Amino acid sequence: MNFYKDKVAVVTGAGSGIGRAIAQLLDRYGAKVHCADVNLQAAEAVARSLKDGRAHSVDVTDADAVQALADKVFAEDGRVDLLFNNAGIGHAAFVLDTGLDDWRRVMEVNVMGVVNGLHAFLPRMSKQTTPSNIINTASAAGLISIPRMAPYCASKHAVVGLSQSLAAELHDTNVSVTILCPGIINTAIVKNTIMTGETQSHQAQAVAFYEKKGASPDKVAADLLRDVRKGKLICITPRIEVGVGWFAQRFSPRLAGVLARLQIGQVLK
Ligand SMILES: NC(=O)c1ccc[n+]([C@@H]2O[C@H](COP(=O)([O-])OP(=O)(O)OC[C@H]3O[C@@H](n4cnc5c(N)ncnc54)[C@H](O)[C@@H]3O)[C@@H](O)[C@H]2O)c1
Repeated sequence: MNFYKDKVAVVTGAGSGIGRAIAQLLDRYGAKVHCADVNLQAAEAVARSLKDGRAHSVDVTDADAVQALADKVFAEDGRVDLLFNNAGIGHAAFVLDTGLDDWRRVMEVNVMGVVNGLHAFLPRMSKQTTPSNIINTASAAGLISIPRMAPYCASKHAVVGLSQSLAAELHDTNVSVTILCPGIINTAIVKNTIMTGETQSHQAQAVAFYEKKGASPDKVAADLLRDVRKGKLICITPRIEVGVGWFAQRFSPRLAGVLARLQIGQVLK
């Protein structure tokens, strides 16, 4: 993957799961990786495992902190070739069990975290004379809608929508956009997911389901870096799992709703 050799990458949420796998694969392909995470220790551990890694403590909901990260990276490297707006959190509950604080928290991290990344990095990336890529992590839940995940689905549909707008705006520039839409991936996300009301009593089963049935974050990273190199707008992975729901959504939203109910019934049984 010569495409990534000597490139400068920034990955948010690099301390765990999909972000960590992306950082490690970029490193194998010869990129320099800035690992940003709200959990500095986790980012440091990942950066230490890389040949050329830097760790940064950044809460993506803090626009000033993301701006400071961009200033630091541009001061050190003069350019950013790959920006992965990946940090995100999970949430599962019936709408009736969801307080406004939880709605706001999910939107702040999953939507404004991406917006803050674009706001801080895009102006300078768009002036670079060499091609660059912005990769926003959405989810299969950004393409289909799943019961008991309304705030999460809303946040990830927002990431898909804003990324598609951005891609259309940037189509004749040096900056390409890819939207990552993973399905069920075995990471720490479900353990850390905010669950409230009756759904909370299913958290242990959901964690076990993700551990048993989830695809590996390494597969997500491999599929993503292949699709970014090919200039794809949307990367779905695992392809069949996400593709079936996405096709059903476009063919018949009602059918997609039935499939989503069956799936969430398996995860939270
Ligand atoms: N695991 C899945 O099944 C799955 C499926 C679809 C989409 N995703 C998305 O993938 C992305 C990564 O999730 P993951 O599964 O690797 O989860 P994870 O919990 O393993 O990793 C998320 C990382 O983001 C960091 N983070 C959380 N809030 C942050 C903040 N405010 N600022 C900076 N860093 C923050 C965490 O500290 C953690 O290191 C998320 O956007 C998630 O919504 C995950």
